[in-house]
Amino acid sequence: MNSRVLSCGLSGISGRLITVEVDISGGIPSHETVGLPGKAVSESRERVRAAIKNCGFPFPPSRVVVNLAPADLKKEGTIYDLPVALAMLCAAGFLKGESLINRMFVGELSLSGEIRPVRGALAMAICAKEEGIAEIVLPKENAEEAALVKGVRVLAADSLSELCECLAGKKEFQPHTPGEWQPSFEQGDSDMALIRGQYTAKRAAEVAAAGGHNMLLAGPPGGGKTMLARALPTILPDLTFEEAMEITRIHSAAGKLKGGVVKSRPFVAPHHSASAVSVVGGGAAAMPGEISLAHLGVLFLDEIPEFPRTVLEALRQPMEDGLITVSRANAGATYPARFMLVAAMNLCPCGNSGSKGRECTCSPIAMARYRHKLSGPLLDRMDIFVRMTEVSYDDLFDASASAESSASVRERVNDCRRIQMERFKDTGRYCNAHMNQKEIVRYCRLDKDANALYRSEFDLRGMSGRGNARTLRLARTIADLEKSALIKAEHLAEALQYLAADGFERDLI
Ligand SMILES: Nc1ncnc2c1ncn2[C@@H]1O[C@H](COP(=O)(O)OP(=O)(O)OP(=O)(O)O)[C@@H](O)[C@H]1O
Ligand SMILES: [Mg+2]
Repeated sequence: MNSRVLSCGLSGISGRLITVEVDISGGIPSHETVGLPGKAVSESRERVRAAIKNCGFPFPPSRVVVNLAPADLKKEGTIYDLPVALAMLCAAGFLKGESLINRMFVGELSLSGEIRPVRGALAMAICAKEEGIAEIVLPKENAEEAALVKGVRVLAADSLSELCECLAGKKEFQPHTPGEWQPSFEQGDSDMALIRGQYTAKRAAEVAAAGGHNMLLAGPPGGGKTMLARALPTILPDLTFEEAMEITRIHSAAGKLKGGVVKSRPFVAPHHSASAVSVVGGGAAAMPGEISLAHLGVLFLDEIPEFPRTVLEALRQPMEDGLITVSRANAGATYPARFMLVAAMNLCPCGNSGSKGRECTCSPIAMARYRHKLSGPLLDRMDIFVRMTEVSYDDLFDASASAESSASVRERVNDCRRIQMERFKDTGRYCNAHMNQKEIVRYCRLDKDANALYRSEFDLRGMSGRGNARTLRLARTIADLEKSALIKAEHLAEALQYLAADGFERDLI
């Protein structure tokens, strides 16, 4: 007797339809899996047999062959436990073949027959929809994310025995109805109002959040660089449903999804001891790295010169393309990685350079070595440079100077992002920082005064092609914050000031 069940494999963040075939025949009892199974797939034999036995099916000793088709694609993970068990029960005559038609099954089994969650359920539901499969049966924990896909019925199951009763018609399937999706954000203990003084830096953070621009904060210790960067999530714009789908798909594939569906923008802050593989992705299982987990959110690199140069240089290509392709011996995977890079650093190894009260004791060589850790091309990708100084007594203790709260900054950022969403609808882009050259020419129109200013500043600053693009993108965001269709001279002037405050950018190279 043989049977077949549809299942789904994971390649990067995309699902691949897999057919699980089982043949049971007489002969010496054995269990063989073919079709390039990985270690976890080969081990499924033990889990499947125990689960079937513990669910009360008197499975006869027999020769079992499991084939996972297409046979030339490497199969990884524990996804196939459930479809293999069902195909075996069907081939042994415990289940009717019709109950398995037009359904996709994924799930890991425990020895007692419970169905455990898997990675990549959202990608699998999308695959079911693309393949025209009406229903997907998966673990309860994965139901919420899979239900984001319209047009596929999501059936959640707790255990193999319960699922078999439903398939035999003894019990009703309960299709999962998704809760209404609403964006949320985590305020935590941070708030922009807690950061005193630092007006330029806070304004720069607002512009960066509004347009998704990269930002480098530099200055002496204790000025509030880390504090400001960590307050960024409180002013980031609300997530849209499309963005939430993209982020959830990546987090799900990485097995990092907490609580169903992503509702707020990710803020990822790896330590400087992180390896290149953990930051950009890859490794034996070609998993997404921190830059992909930060997709459509913030990647914060605190003390950026302490990161190994290999890690920093590996960021260059994904920062340009918005995606990263990681390879391993016989397969590769492409992951989206459109993140906003926020970095913080001191200006010298002792940290006191730029300080009002403390003297820098670094030798010129030590200083040069420290600053050279950031390559020119990496600095060229930073849109906003902010040089922060220590906060003054007056700023810290002036009770009359009330600092603006994150909630009110967020309102402006959200208004600005709405203009951008309208501008880029149906392009797959969401904010000004991601504009391509064609869009820059189309949307970044300067008025007469701005044109005159740009002409005089362009040669003076020795602007490169990329420098021009990032100035115009930044000026577009500043104009959007003012709800101005044309870029005016004051918008352009502010954008130019962020590019190289105090010649700071050149200082660093
Ligand atoms: N502008 C500010 N307003 C209020 N408190 C501040 C400000 N700047 C710093 N502080 C206080 O100082 C602490 C340290 O600040 P923070 O860690 O952000 O400094 P930093 O610039 O990152 O320093 P380092 O270069 O050493 O990393 C904060 O947790 C906060 O309590
Ligand atoms: Mg710090």
